[in-house]
Amino acid sequence: MPWRIGPADRATGQRPDPYRVWLSEVMLQQTTVAAVRDYFRRFTARWPDVAALAAAPDEDVMGEWAGLGYYARARNLLKCARAVVSQHHGHFPSTREGLLGLPGIGPYTAAAIAAIAFDEPAVVVDGNVERVMARLHLVETPLPPAKAELIALAAALTPDHRPGDYAQAVMDLGATICTPRNPACGICPWAQPCAARAAGVQGELPRKLAK
Ligand code: ADE
Repeated sequence: MPWRIGPADRATGQRPDPYRVWLSEVMLQQTTVAAVRDYFRRFTARWPDVAALAAAPDEDVMGEWAGLGYYARARNLLKCARAVVSQHHGHFPSTREGLLGLPGIGPYTAAAIAAIAFDEPAVVVDGNVERVMARLHLVETPLPPAKAELIALAAALTPDHRPGDYAQAVMDLGATICTPRNPACGICPWAQPCAARAAGVQGELPRKLAK
């Protein structure tokens, strides 16, 4: 994924660029990785940093966004870029609280940027993480009532050492191995401690209240 950095850079203590983490997370809301990839490449080629994006005419940004859908995201994207420039000298705040003050950044996105870009021990819980926690800890309570319990379980596992890499790893585990259907337990690093697998119900969790 083009918003990631490689292990060689990581070994030198580098972190992913907050601008790229933010842009990818906003694009990935309600949109798949496959659909986002080329949009992300075009955006970052045309506007390599938040100052460049903030200076772009609205219609240019809306034009590049065309096809991604949920156009309120694109309008908030510009508002947020301009707020980072005008209120934060062009640098994203490094904490969850600071990030939450920006337009279009909610609790999930704030935690994801704080963790992935700034290595803060923020608790990052998206649908992938909810599924991994429900299975690992055999949470039979359905969503949405299970939400608070799943967040507490995710918080208890969030480490002080490399919390950003941990957050990204749990999301990747949920996106690629601990998938909604036919999870690949045979190659899962958490197969051993997984309580749902021991009970043989991994494919049924998380349960959801009938709509
Ligand atoms: N979906 C949204 N953000 C993601 C991320 N950082 N990693 C994997 N899947 C994601």
